[in-house]
Parts: sequence; structure tokens; C-alpha cells
Amino acid sequence: MKRRWDSNEEQYFGIGIYQPKTKENIGSLWRTALVYGASFIFIIDAKYTKQSTDVFKTWSKIPLFQYKTIDAFMQTVPYSCKLVGIEMEERSIPIKHYQHPERAIYLLGSEHNGLPIKLQTICHDLIKLPGEQSLNVAVAGSIVLYDRIIKKIEL
Ligand SMILES: C[S@@+](CC[C@H](N)C(=O)[O-])C[C@H]1O[C@@H](n2cnc3c(N)ncnc32)[C@H](O)[C@@H]1O
Repeated sequence: MKRRWDSNEEQYFGIGIYQPKTKENIGSLWRTALVYGASFIFIIDAKYTKQSTDVFKTWSKIPLFQYKTIDAFMQTVPYSCKLVGIEMEERSIPIKHYQHPERAIYLLGSEHNGLPIKLQTICHDLIKLPGEQSLNVAVAGSIVLYDRIIKKIEL
């Protein structure tokens, strides 16, 4: 049967941080996620309260989900959606060679300890950005989202 929708309609993405330490990083990533078309963002094992500096009222446009544990997060991963870990690991794929999945959830690690092994092992792919030293977590997430939109979507 002929599909009655465009293949562009079969894609979505969300992005989140494990144990983020600062509300500023969550806010920065949230804003990029909104501007670049994410469907949701999330945090695992952390709390976030609304910031008065959020002039976009980001909370009113895309949801922020808050999971208490990694297990609680894992139970919500949708059907046919790939988990993509963003981490500076030897086995990570350099982003310039990476073809983003149609449906993806991107996972970032904490400012202090990075992405824990438990999360790395459930990821379908691990990707990394160029550089010898690690980037700020919100910057790293923002670059990955930019890479996704320039590779997949006509602006
Ligand atoms: C500040 S870094 C964590 C640094 C931590 N002290 C460590 O050594 O693992 C926070 C997160 O940003 C992301 N990140 C930063 N630079 C990156 C890079 N070059 N490639 C991939 N992810 C990066 C990762 O998700 C990382 O877990």
C-alpha cells in the first residue's frame, strides 16, 4: 500500500542529560532543543525548577521529563527509537561520519562523571565531537542537534 505521508513525518528526536549539575546547562540545552525542533527533553536523577530568565517560556512549548532513575527512564523508551549516547569514548563514532537515526533519543553525561556505563551499554550508538578536552554539556548537545538538522532537514 502506498504511504500517505512524507518520510519526514516518520522522524522525531529528544535529548537529555544524566545528573546535570546546573540549571543553566539544562536551560541552554532546552532552548536549543526548542529552536532545532526536538519533541522533548529530559533529565535523569536531577531536579529542575522554572527559571525567570527563560524569556521563550520554553516549558510551554516542549516538555521536560524528569526521571528519578536510569531504570525509570529506560522503561519509557518508545518502540523503534534509537538511543544515541554522546560521549568521548574510544569506540564512539566521530560525528562527521554519523548518519542520525530517523527517531532518536540523545543522551548526555553529567558535568562531573560523564555518561555512566549502564547508560552507555544500552545505547545503540555512541558518538563523539572533535576535540581533546570535553566541551560544556549543553554545548555538546547543541552541536549534535545542529549536526542532525543540517544532515537531515532542509532549512
Ligand atoms: C563536561 S563533559 C563530562 C566530563 C567528565 N569530567 C568526564 O571526564 O567524563 C559532560 C558531557 O558532555 C558531553 N561531551 C562533552 N564533550 C564531548 C565530546 N567531545 N564528544 C562527545 N560528548 C561530549 C558528554 O555527554 C559528557 O558526558
